[in-house]
Order: sequence, then structure tokens, then C-alpha cells
Amino acid sequence: MKLPTRRTRLVPALALGLALGIGLAACGDADRAPSPDRDTAADETELSAFELEHGIGPINEELVLPEGIDAEMAARGQDVFELNCEACHMMDDRFVGPALRDVLDRRSATFVMNIILNPEEMVRNHPEGQKMLQEYPLIMPYQNISEDEARAIVEYLRTVRN
Ligand code: HEC
Repeated sequence: MKLPTRRTRLVPALALGLALGIGLAACGDADRAPSPDRDTAADETELSAFELEHGIGPINEELVLPEGIDAEMAARGQDVFELNCEACHMMDDRFVGPALRDVLDRRSATFVMNIILNPEEMVRNHPEGQKMLQEYPLIMPYQNISEDEARAIVEYLRTVRN
């Protein structure tokens, strides 16, 4: 007597699971398909002049670099870089991500910090991030780097610059 009961319960559960699975897959597709009411289109036009130049993220005041390089901070930044960034970035050649030796000539220090601290939003919603995404199929992962560490990486990147 117990077995049929279980079976009848199992079938609707399976059906529900399937329906959910299909529903989720459908949502995923809908997400990818371009549609006029997508958030990104709206966000892009709403970016402030500051965000366009310095990126979207927790650093919302321009980081003005002092003239001299802080060697101790740069050394800390190098450690963080070797642990968390070298898997994807080289200095002079394109790798999984762009070459970074001259990144501070291309981007402001604030922009660099924001992409380290908030990569997904930068890549999806910032026009420069979107351009990079065309070239690099991967979205740079969020790695829980602290603001201090990101600042130290900037200092390290200053030392490798030509
Ligand atoms: C899993 C690979 C991966 C890791 C790890 C990674 N990145 Fe990236 N990074 C990318 C990709 C890919 C891009 C290009 C944008 C995109 O498509 O996401 C990028 C873009 C960047 C940019 C912007 C470059 C430009 O020209 O504007 C900077 C700066 C950067 N990464 C720094 C870092 C730092 C610093 C770390 C370590 C904390 C790091 N990345 C870790 C893949 C990675």
C-alpha cells in the first residue's frame, strides 16, 4: 500500500522539478536575448561624468596619487597581484585579460581600483568594460580584494610602468 502512494507523490514532484528547470532555462535565454527594457541600456546613459572617467564602484572620489612611490605599499601590492591576478594578467602580452604594464596610462588609478573591487558591474554597465567584454569573453571575477589591497596593487602597477 505504501509504494503506490510514494509513486503518485513522486510524479508531480518530478513534473514540478522539470517545469522549474525548463522555466529557469527559459529565463536564462530571455536574459541573454537583447531587449529594449534591459537595465544595462538605462544604466549606461545614467552614468555620471565621474563614473565614465573613473568607473563604477566603491571608490567615488578621485584617487590623487602622490608624486613619490611608496615602495613598501608597492611590495604589498605585488604580493596580492602575484596571488590573485597573475593567473589572468601578464604585463606585456594579452592573456586571459589585457596586458597591464601601461594600464595607468590608459585608465585612471580610480578606474583601476573600481574594476578590481567591482568587476562584474564595471564589465556589464560601463562602456569601457563592455568594449573589453567584446574582446575578452570572460568577465573578470570578484575576488574579495580589500580597498587597501586594491590601492596597493595600484602602487605596484606604478612601479612596473615604462
Ligand atoms: C580569471 C581571470 C582574471 C583574474 C583572476 C583577474 N582578471 Fe583582471 N581582467 C580579466 C578580464 C577578462 C578583463 C577584461 C574585462 C572583462 O572582460 O572582464 C580584465 C580586466 C582588468 C583590468 C582593466 C584593464 C583595462 O585595460 O582597462 C584591470 C585593471 C584588471 N583586470 C586588473 C586585475 C587585477 C589587479 C587582478 C587581481 C586582483 C585581476 N585583474 C584578476 C580577467 C581576470
